[in-house]
Amino acid sequence: MLTQPDSDLARRVGEGTKGRNVIGGAPVMAQSGATLDVASPSDGAVFATIARSEAADVDAAVAAARAAFETGPWAKMAAAGRGRLLSRLGERIADHAGELAALESRDTGKPLRQGVADVTATERYFEYYGGAADKVHGEQIPFLDGYTALTMREPHGVVAGIIPWNYPLQILARVAGAALAMGNTLVIKPAEDASLTALRVAELALEAGFPDGVFNVVTGLGAEAGAALSAHPDVDYVTFTGSPATGTAIQAAAAQNNRGVTMELGGKSPQIVFADADLEAAMPVLVNAIIQNGGQTCSAGSRILIERPVYEDVASELAARFAALTAEPHWADADLGPLINARQAERVAGFVADARAAGIAVLAEGSVAADAPAGGHYQAPVLFGTVDPQSDLAREEVFGPVLSLFAFDGEDDAVRLANATDFGLVAGVWTKDGGRQHRMAKRVRAGQVYVNGYGAGGGIELPFGGFKRSGHGREKGFEALKDMSATKTVIFNHG
Ligand code: NAI
Ligand code: MG
Repeated sequence: MLTQPDSDLARRVGEGTKGRNVIGGAPVMAQSGATLDVASPSDGAVFATIARSEAADVDAAVAAARAAFETGPWAKMAAAGRGRLLSRLGERIADHAGELAALESRDTGKPLRQGVADVTATERYFEYYGGAADKVHGEQIPFLDGYTALTMREPHGVVAGIIPWNYPLQILARVAGAALAMGNTLVIKPAEDASLTALRVAELALEAGFPDGVFNVVTGLGAEAGAALSAHPDVDYVTFTGSPATGTAIQAAAAQNNRGVTMELGGKSPQIVFADADLEAAMPVLVNAIIQNGGQTCSAGSRILIERPVYEDVASELAARFAALTAEPHWADADLGPLINARQAERVAGFVADARAAGIAVLAEGSVAADAPAGGHYQAPVLFGTVDPQSDLAREEVFGPVLSLFAFDGEDDAVRLANATDFGLVAGVWTKDGGRQHRMAKRVRAGQVYVNGYGAGGGIELPFGGFKRSGHGREKGFEALKDMSATKTVIFNHG
């Protein structure tokens, strides 16, 4: 288990880094020479740069990935060999865990211990998919007399991964682990707000022995590098995590080439608390599911539905806990850090202001530390009570430390409210009644349902993905290996 890096490292790690793309096994500047500034969300200070890539850089990365896929050692490597490389990459990440955790924390503003948790999950993804690589196989199908039919799992080819800024390392690892286990090659476009750890992982992949061109990273803006990558005619498959609007743009681009996509587009995930629930066990989980990473989590538990007899009790206990929460710089390792950037802070503050103006009651507010640097993007946690299910606050993903409470009467009403948004990513159900646990798990539309618990994002072994506007395709676990490959059916006529 990784020990926590000290707060001094978290303040200065990565200082002066001039991040370069990793293309064909070599670090390279953008062809134009342009760069983007990297600022810490905790104080707004610029501490590094990354390459501002454009279409020409994306072309070079896709060409390198294509060459590595078609020829060279990767194309001939046995599945066990790919698995061994992935396991070795996990070990390299473990060797650099403290530095990576501090760097992720500084680049995103997340509290240090969340950086540590993210690195631990990243190691585990590579360990898991390293072990899985040689355990995926096809089937033999009974067919006509004189024939033998069988299926093979084939890689798609060049996979493009467009990664968001909220869990940069973890999401990179869940994409890369599954894609590489199946024999694809990769071009990763990290978010412009959080690219530094992706560049480090690409370097570590080279050290671990991945052949040149298998693991490419191109940094830059979504509208430039991201758009060029998702529209590239030589990309075989695109996987994306981020906002529904960007997901639509990426699917439209990939559709021009009729390529497959996986889309993980966030949620408005409910936790449903029945009157018979173990409230003492539920309470810290209810709070953490929205406060973790400052609420910037696709699977954040952003709506709490409470059965009416316990509504007042649960609301007042949550209010007490919210009032005690403080946002502080990442190095202070507090309950939550700043939000990722000024735009996100404005967006969240806008939701809060609109909800107040609409007359939704604020039950409690946390605080921002008095000594938090003025250049940081801080938002105090806000708890809203008895929220109108038709309001924007109830229906839209806020992506900040803002929690909404709703009262319900009985199971049918709980199901109606839980399914009343256009999202369907994760849900939590809190009840001691076994029959109700099963009924609710079946009736709630969500890609993951927790009963008497909630793990934002879930374990790396657990298939994960959305219904409705939350997207399609499944990541994590063994199931991701299916999405990252295609069935080839081979039919022998041997008479
Ligand atoms: P975004 O979805 O636009 O950005 C995510 C990634 O997509 C970044 O790497 C970005 O460079 C890339 N991108 C942006 N436009 C692109 C395009 N046209 N073509 C290809 N790639 C493109 O998210 P953004 O704007 O940073 O955040 C806005 C909102 O999105 C947040 O408030 C939140 O509600 C949601 N979001 C949800 C996430 C999730 O995990 N579900 C993660 C990040 C944001
Ligand atoms: Mg950053």
